[in-house]
Amino acid sequence: MADVRLEDVVSLTKRRGFIFQGSDVYGGLAGTWDYGPLGVALKRRIMALWWEHFVNKRDDMYGVDAAILMNQKVWQASGHVDTFSDPLVECRECCARFRADKININAPCENCKKGPNFSDPRQFNMMFKTFVGPSANAEVDAEDGKKSLTYDPHSVSYLRPETAQGIFTNFKNVIDSFYPDLPFGIAQQGKAFRNEISPRDFVFRSREFEQMEIEYFVHPDTWEENFEKLLAMTYEFLGKLGLPADKIHELEVPDEDRAHYSKRTVDIEFDYPIGREELLGIAYRTDFDLGNIQRVSGKGMEYTVKGTNEKLVPHVIEPSFGVERTIMAVLCSAYREDEQNGEKRVYLALPEHLAPYVFCVSPLLKNKPELVEKAREVYRVLKEKHGNVAWDDNGNIGKRYRRQDEIGTPACIVIDFQTLEDGTVTVRDRDSTEQKRVTMEEVS
Ligand code: GAP
Repeated sequence: MADVRLEDVVSLTKRRGFIFQGSDVYGGLAGTWDYGPLGVALKRRIMALWWEHFVNKRDDMYGVDAAILMNQKVWQASGHVDTFSDPLVECRECCARFRADKININAPCENCKKGPNFSDPRQFNMMFKTFVGPSANAEVDAEDGKKSLTYDPHSVSYLRPETAQGIFTNFKNVIDSFYPDLPFGIAQQGKAFRNEISPRDFVFRSREFEQMEIEYFVHPDTWEENFEKLLAMTYEFLGKLGLPADKIHELEVPDEDRAHYSKRTVDIEFDYPIGREELLGIAYRTDFDLGNIQRVSGKGMEYTVKGTNEKLVPHVIEPSFGVERTIMAVLCSAYREDEQNGEKRVYLALPEHLAPYVFCVSPLLKNKPELVEKAREVYRVLKEKHGNVAWDDNGNIGKRYRRQDEIGTPACIVIDFQTLEDGTVTVRDRDSTEQKRVTMEEVS
């Protein structure tokens, strides 16, 4: 990845309608990103591939889609209210704020270049707090007459910082309605929100992002073997994404760096253009979460093992994927530059099953109605069959190829005069740029 620059990938994704800065038209909102037509196509394919691999193809996985807003007790019981924080320092010269563990606090401030003159670190909770319902009361100060708003503390809620808790809170519902055999997993995909102190590196550290998570419930005696099985499944999935194996690394997270709930965590890191960074994590969460729910809610989270009638609170292995970091790994792995006929070419060598469009159909010449009519017919047949098929009749054929290369379309189909005679079309391959004449049956 050393030769791929993040700024080139960011520029392509903006130029070609994959990913835009959130609220761009108003100057942006840091840490938020909007997906354009091609970005949403890529993202949905990645999320669908994950669901297929981890849920649909298995008979021990159950899906849920829980509400983002949850009772505040969820986040008290899970430990997030007390401990989900990062160390914050402020530059005393310019008041810019940084995550203390991400900067050198003995060097001048990144923002104003003065100092170093930083405040002592303090813990900053990363959950976005909100209030549910019409809970604000206007109060007028008796002395200065100033108005202020107070909120009923019972109305406090948070935008979920992980999808995991929506799974744990549905553990009993799934048991009662399906009574699955142990081990089994509950999977969820959806938005998560973290008020990151310094969102940075494109979508890598965002304030709003998506997660794909599984809580896999196991007998405590079997956690180690299940951990290894889920790790192996994770590698299979990374293979399906087409990520180069030599860019993927396993990190056994040391005790002092693990989240408060984990007894073992393996991070899968990826060689991004910004360096080797966490792509996803697999954690052994023990019975930490179900135990806390049981304690705080007073409701039993026990599972009765079929056959032996042993009662236990299952332990949990959690593979947790970030969608944005996966997309960034896929885009950075696919980004290529080469030279064609003395000109620089940029293309995305996306795997066919992830590419926003699988084919682009064009008439050789736009001003020949018979070619356009035939090309439209071919386009309709392929669109009906595959859905994600593009139509392009703008500019000359070379320019069309370049445009499709840049968005990763694996094959461009051109309808020319020979098509009218014998029904064959030319298919041009994105990666090799080679062209072949084939019949329509071969294309479909
Ligand atoms: N439920 C466990 C959990 O949330 P985590 O390591 O905090 O664990 C899991 O997050 C994954 O979510 C990360 O490996 C990463 O892919 C993604 N993620 C976390 N914070 C993120 C952020 N600010 N922006 C984008 N992705 C993030």
